[in-house]
Amino acid sequence: MVDPSDKAGFPHHMIKEIFEQPQGLRDTILPRVSLEEAAVKLEDIRIPADDLRTLRRINIVASGTSRHAGMVGQYMIQELVNLPVEVDYASEFEYRNSLLGPDEITVVITQSGETADTTSAQREAKARGSHTIAISNVVDSTIAREADGVLYTYAGKEVSIASTKAFTAQMAVLFLFSLYLGQVRGKLGKDQRRHLLRELLEIPNKLDPALECAEQCEHLAETYLKFDDFLFMGRGIHYPVAMDGALKLKEVSYVHAEGYPTGETKHGPLALIDEHLPVVILATCDRGDPGSVIRYEKNVANIKSFKQQGGRVIAIGSEGDAVLPKLADHTVLLPQAPELLLPILEIVPLQIFAYYIAVKRGLDVDRPRNLVKSVTLE
Ligand code: F6R
Repeated sequence: MVDPSDKAGFPHHMIKEIFEQPQGLRDTILPRVSLEEAAVKLEDIRIPADDLRTLRRINIVASGTSRHAGMVGQYMIQELVNLPVEVDYASEFEYRNSLLGPDEITVVITQSGETADTTSAQREAKARGSHTIAISNVVDSTIAREADGVLYTYAGKEVSIASTKAFTAQMAVLFLFSLYLGQVRGKLGKDQRRHLLRELLEIPNKLDPALECAEQCEHLAETYLKFDDFLFMGRGIHYPVAMDGALKLKEVSYVHAEGYPTGETKHGPLALIDEHLPVVILATCDRGDPGSVIRYEKNVANIKSFKQQGGRVIAIGSEGDAVLPKLADHTVLLPQAPELLLPILEIVPLQIFAYYIAVKRGLDVDRPRNLVKSVTLE
């Protein structure tokens, strides 16, 4: 049993849980991976491999941070398996004709497994004839029990209202699920799977050095304590991470923040950028991936234009980058990783930044006002 008052020497649950992410990832990934066979084993998925082979679309429904994980999963699945993925807000699912058809499944993502909007969306999907797979951090939760198949995240009990370690574990499970689909559908060969599994297994080890940015993030929080608005931005798979960074800041610090796709800022929000609106931009780069390099170069051009407008820029980049520190006001450098796995590292400085802003504002970071851990009302 977890003692909810036990903070293991940390001042708050949120920072304890941020630091528990390497272990949460190991517990979630290791039991499901065989490097020898280059295989992913998802025993509780309970959807026959033949049904997964004939799938034509995957629908993901979730709320809040869990939905951001779903958006990251959308990029992973589409990139690795070439299968269309739709992501919905659980609270909106029943209001649109989601046109669930045969040969589709619905993946429901939830930390608590009890969120009312997500439960309703799951029931709606089932009523429309869709099989459901739950990704839940709580064993035997309502959503897990009602699903046809289940993929648990083993992040450990999350006490702080802001979801941190469940989010990184959800992204890891979605990567495993993508590899599993690639395996059963014959889309990913053994060598490719082995390579991707090795990279995934390295992520918990890379989180330890990523967490070393905590001191730098505390200084950043000190510097930006008095600002009331922030713009977080990212392109592609990094966009949902920007959304989550903004959500963390809003909920624990009561500071207004928006997450935006970087390229979209020129269609409006650019007008806002000046010295009063700090920009946090995800500008990591996987040098081995041409798409990632193109995205990075566009980010560099964006940072230059924000600076010309007098903007203040906090850039999150990859180790070895000598360009970003010359352009941005502040640069946090993270270990290098493949494009599809970078989000798991990138969220760390954003979580820590939000944590310190809340603490330095004297707020109850583990229990922000008006929020509850399990949202059991619609
Ligand atoms: C944000 C946060 C919420 C939850 C959302 C869904 O930090 O914690 O946005 O992610 O309420 O909750 P679950 O994942 O329990 O369904």
